[in-house]
Amino acid sequence: MNYKGGVGKTTLTANLAAEIANRGHRVLMIDLDPQTNLTFSFFTVEEWNADLRNTRTIQRWYDGEMPGRDIPLEQLVLTPERVNAKVKENAGQLDLISSHLGLINIDLQLAAKLGATTLGESKRKFLQVHGCLAAALKSPAFADYDLVLIDCPPNFGLVTKTAIVASEYILVPAKADYLSTLGIGYLRHSVDKLVTDYNDYLGHGSVGEAGGKRIEPKFAGVVFTMTQIHAGQPINTQRMQIENTRALGDMPVFRASVRNSPRYFAEAGPDGVPPVLVGAIDDPVSRELRALSDEFVEAIAGGKHRS
Ligand SMILES: Nc1ncnc2c1ncn2[C@@H]1O[C@H](COP(=O)(O)OP(=O)(O)O)[C@@H](O)[C@H]1O
Ligand SMILES: [Mg+2]
Repeated sequence: MNYKGGVGKTTLTANLAAEIANRGHRVLMIDLDPQTNLTFSFFTVEEWNADLRNTRTIQRWYDGEMPGRDIPLEQLVLTPERVNAKVKENAGQLDLISSHLGLINIDLQLAAKLGATTLGESKRKFLQVHGCLAAALKSPAFADYDLVLIDCPPNFGLVTKTAIVASEYILVPAKADYLSTLGIGYLRHSVDKLVTDYNDYLGHGSVGEAGGKRIEPKFAGVVFTMTQIHAGQPINTQRMQIENTRALGDMPVFRASVRNSPRYFAEAGPDGVPPVLVGAIDDPVSRELRALSDEFVEAIAGGKHRS
């Protein structure tokens, strides 16, 4: 997540998911951004219009009386063909839950569900709404996945919050410029506030069907994307921003970064297989994406604490 758009969230989600699936793991991606870019990295607009838009998107799940009342989340799982033909060679699996442009209104609908007349009811509804995705992902239908990657919209709205409550780790793609690095402290505080509120409410007696456990999402860290490379490393001004972010210590910073390469990512195009699986193996961007995948897996597999 990052409340900024255009920082590489979707690109990283698609490439990390594909790379890790291609290493023989079962990976699920959930597209929560109404811009639907992750979905369209794996399906053509024609396929989506014909088979998915009316029946099989996350909008149907968030819609209605309460998320999941109309349709269980597991019924929305799709297995995009082209990328799976590739990752199956290595016994991997890559599934996706599609987004929908209509998700743009869901934040307001969810907010309306928070309305309550008593303090107790208000707490119960807070937990129920914020915890809806976490609860749905506890279904045995998802137990076989090694990894679930959620691509968030560029804001800190309710849909993003349901993703944070459902997450064990938060990955923050960012550009190495002054404003972006300033925003990281703000992001950290916003997440901390949500986690504190959620856990406080849990602690207050009868929370009814919301039930649930304390949450403790950790920051996997900041990944710098679209870096300008000169003589094998990010240019001076960007290196300074990266070092600053590290020094501020709001969250870990990945050693791996992903350089700016419109050529590499444009070639992704509409064929439904992320470039990390089709680019030349020795392409510097492929190398960076594989190094990032190594570091990410290490971070979330309870690897050593990074700073
Ligand atoms: N490392 C990169 N180099 C060049 N272009 C990139 C890179 N990463 C992403 N892009 C491009 O930048 C645009 C925004 O990236 P995207 O992943 O969609 O960002 P977000 O999901 O944060 O909005 C897309 O057109 C994408 O192809
Ligand atoms: Mg995106």
